[in-house]
Amino acid sequence: MEEMASIRTLSVDIGGSGVKTIVLDNAGNPTTERARTDTPQPATPDVVIDAIVALSQTQGEFHRASVGFPGVVSSGVTKTAVNLHPSWVGFDLANTLANRLDAPVRVINDADMQGFGAIGGKGVELVITLGTGFGSALFVDGKLVPNLEMGHHRFRRGETYEQQLGRATLDAIGQKKWNRRLEKAIASLEHLFNYDYLYIGGGEATKINLQLQPNVKIIPNISGLLGGIALWR
Ligand code: BGC
Repeated sequence: MEEMASIRTLSVDIGGSGVKTIVLDNAGNPTTERARTDTPQPATPDVVIDAIVALSQTQGEFHRASVGFPGVVSSGVTKTAVNLHPSWVGFDLANTLANRLDAPVRVINDADMQGFGAIGGKGVELVITLGTGFGSALFVDGKLVPNLEMGHHRFRRGETYEQQLGRATLDAIGQKKWNRRLEKAIASLEHLFNYDYLYIGGGEATKINLQLQPNVKIIPNISGLLGGIALWR
């Protein structure tokens, strides 16, 4: 019997501090070691795209690419980029990168992509990511409600979730205080969304030191890349 040709997907996670790539097979399993580079600063489209292209050249063969972007994304165009650079507003990332990689490219919000790598597909599932920024994604029976931007909503003391819990604040206030705030944030999100499951990812999720409810799960950072396969379903 002839085997189904393996389509390889280059999965890209653009973060405020690192750009990461991995290649996934048809089933969404990694076929390469994850590659990472620091996000070039200032993080304008040109230099970030150069970084992605350079990383992609270490990843062998691929036929298409999925990108998780740390801002609002609509039809491949980036609409906000609070932690990168203002020049991303209105930038056609999908088409520009497709030309550079010579492969079709799909782009969604980074937390949305991470969610696809983590959810079970039943009920109301909320995902938050704790990194440079505060990411959020909402799924109903596995269907994404795109571009949920909880991070920039008012949380407490006149500040947003991102201002209260982003990496810069974690470094400034320390883990103990940050954990106490995170506990309040989880309680607030629970009352707002009445989720069946909450998944917490991002580079700083390893700093969580809380007793979590059984329906709240910490997810590994690699989910940000594994979710890339869902963009082609
Ligand atoms: C952005 C979100 C992003 C999050 C995590 C926030 O500042 O507005 O779109 O998902 O950071 O990168």
